[in-house]
Amino acid sequence: MAAARVLVRRGSAARGVLSAPPPPPTVAAARLVQAQPHSSRSEPSPSSSSKPKRPKTFSIYRWNPDEPSSKPRLQSYEIDLSECGPMVLDALIKIKNEVDPSLTFRRSCREGICGSCAMNIDGDNGLACLTKIPQSSSDAATITPLPHMFVVKDLVVDMTNFYSQYKSVEPWLKRKDPPPVPGKEVPQSKADRAKLDGMYECILCACCSTSCPSYWWNPETYLGPAALLHAHRWIQDSRDQYTKERLEAINDEFKLYRCHTIKNCVHACPKGLNPAKQIESIKKLQLQ
Ligand code: SF4
Ligand code: SF4
Ligand code: FES
Repeated sequence: MAAARVLVRRGSAARGVLSAPPPPPTVAAARLVQAQPHSSRSEPSPSSSSKPKRPKTFSIYRWNPDEPSSKPRLQSYEIDLSECGPMVLDALIKIKNEVDPSLTFRRSCREGICGSCAMNIDGDNGLACLTKIPQSSSDAATITPLPHMFVVKDLVVDMTNFYSQYKSVEPWLKRKDPPPVPGKEVPQSKADRAKLDGMYECILCACCSTSCPSYWWNPETYLGPAALLHAHRWIQDSRDQYTKERLEAINDEFKLYRCHTIKNCVHACPKGLNPAKQIESIKKLQLQ
C-alpha cells in the first residue's frame, strides 16, 4: 500500500509539472534538442531534399522459423544513402524502420561495446555498428549471420554453445586464501595489471570464433579463440590462485590443441585483439 501511495503522489507531482508553462529554452538546451535525431531516422533533414540521391542495395539473409516451409534466402533492399547514417547498422535500422519491420537483428549500444550486432558483412565478420557501409553503389552489400552458427531468425544466431564454452573456463577470480585485508579487494601491481591488456577488452562478440575453421568443424569440442582468450586472461591474473588447475582443465587435444594457428581470428576481431597470440601463450605455459 505504501508503495502505491508513493506512485500516486509521484504521478500527481508529474502532472503538476507538465501543466506548468515551460521555461524558455536556453541556448544549451536548444543545441541538445537539435542533436537528438539520429541520422538513420526516417525524417529527412531540412537539407536532405537538396542532396543528390545515392541508392545502395543491401542483400540480406532472411529466414523465419515460423514459416518452416520457407527456405533461407537473400532479400534485396534499396535505400538512399544520402538519408542514412554511415554505418551498416544505420542501414539495417533504416530498412527495419521504413521498409520491412520484420527484418530481425540484434543491436544495443551502437558503439562497439555490447558485441550484439556481430554479423558477416561482405564476407568478413564484424560489428555492424563499427563497419562503414561500402560506398560502391554498383555492388550490393551482402549481409549474412555469423558463419557456422545455428540461426534463430534472419541475422540472429544461437549463442548458447558459445556462452557455455565461455562459462566453462570459469571467467571469474578464484582464490584459495582470503584477501590480505579481510573485506577488502586483492591488490595488484600496475605491471601485473598491464599483463591483462589485450584480453580484458574482449566484448564476446564471437566474430573470432565464428571465423575460425577449427571451430567450424569442432564447435562442440574445441573451445575456440574467444573462450581461450578468456582462459588466458584468468591464467595471467596475478590475483588468481588457480593457475595450475586452469591450465590442466584446458590441456586437451580438442579444447586447446585444435587451434592450428591459422589466425583468421586475428583478422576478424573488431576490437583489435589477438586471440591466436593468447592461445600460443597458453600452449607455451603448458610446456613449462
Ligand atoms: S589461430 Fe587458432 S583460434 Fe585463431 S583462427 Fe586459427 S585455429 Fe582458430
Ligand atoms: S576476441 Fe575479439 S572477436 Fe573474439 S569475442 Fe573478443 S572482441 Fe569479439
Ligand atoms: S550495437 Fe553494440 S557492438 Fe554494435
